[in-house]
Amino acid sequence: MQQGQIHPNSSLTLGSEIVLSELCYGVDGRDILKNVSFRTEDMRVGIVGRNGSGKSTLARLLAGLISPVSGNVRINGNDLAKDRKTALNEIGILFQNPDHQIIFPTVLEEVSFGLTQQGMSGEQAEDAARATLERFGKSHWAEASIAGLSQGQKHLVCLMAVAAMAPRVLILDEPFAGLDIPTKLQLRRYLEQYSGTLVHITHDPDDLHGYQCLVWLDKGMVVQKGADTEVLDAYVGAMKQLGEQDDISDLSD
Ligand SMILES: Nc1ncnc2c1ncn2[C@@H]1O[C@H](COP(=O)(O)OP(=O)(O)OP(=O)(O)O)[C@@H](O)[C@H]1O
Ligand SMILES: [Mg+2]
Repeated sequence: MQQGQIHPNSSLTLGSEIVLSELCYGVDGRDILKNVSFRTEDMRVGIVGRNGSGKSTLARLLAGLISPVSGNVRINGNDLAKDRKTALNEIGILFQNPDHQIIFPTVLEEVSFGLTQQGMSGEQAEDAARATLERFGKSHWAEASIAGLSQGQKHLVCLMAVAAMAPRVLILDEPFAGLDIPTKLQLRRYLEQYSGTLVHITHDPDDLHGYQCLVWLDKGMVVQKGADTEVLDAYVGAMKQLGEQDDISDLSD
């Protein structure tokens, strides 16, 4: 099926092609991801798993920010770890920790930066950044100092910065962490309308209902992949069972 064609089971079109083949990653000889393989063209991809299961590492590999030890990742046929220029338009990542993302002192500078990287002039980028702030109802944040924002507000700045770049694939690592209920609801509505592919990493299975492709990671390996209800039900069942155990020595391993 071609990109842009209507998926038979969904009102959404098909998205970018994400292919992981026997992906392995480790640090100092310790395996973090082991033989992770899956392929999807779904517009809404969810990744669930316990703390330390390798989700954020997988996000960095998908974005091409780190290279696998063996195996490979292709987004629309591109190896983004090698082709950083293509990566700028192809993929965006919202880091779990905003402090890993923020470089500039003010909100406007932060949101403009990626746009200049994509080739806009300073003035064009500033206009587009202001338009993004307006879309999120945060025009009044433009000149604000990021250091003076709360953690949840910083998270939102990072999301606006990455959303402004309108990547074909948007990776969100715990996008709702630390956000209050109105902001979360606002963001959720925004994400529902996002025209590109979303790869949403979360602990909370409730955030992923309606997602077409779910991947459950545990100890760096894929436990299950499939349509949302079957994977989420199995994941929630296993997590509840673990949580009912009194022995907490296994806490995130
Ligand atoms: N640069 C690194 N050096 C050493 N170990 C690392 C590094 N990055 C990740 N790890 C280890 O890899 C494992 C997976 O980490 P990762 O951050 O990908 O998990 P996660 O699923 O995102 O966890 P969480 O749900 O807590 O965010 C952890 O045990 C972590 O300590
Ligand atoms: Mg993580």
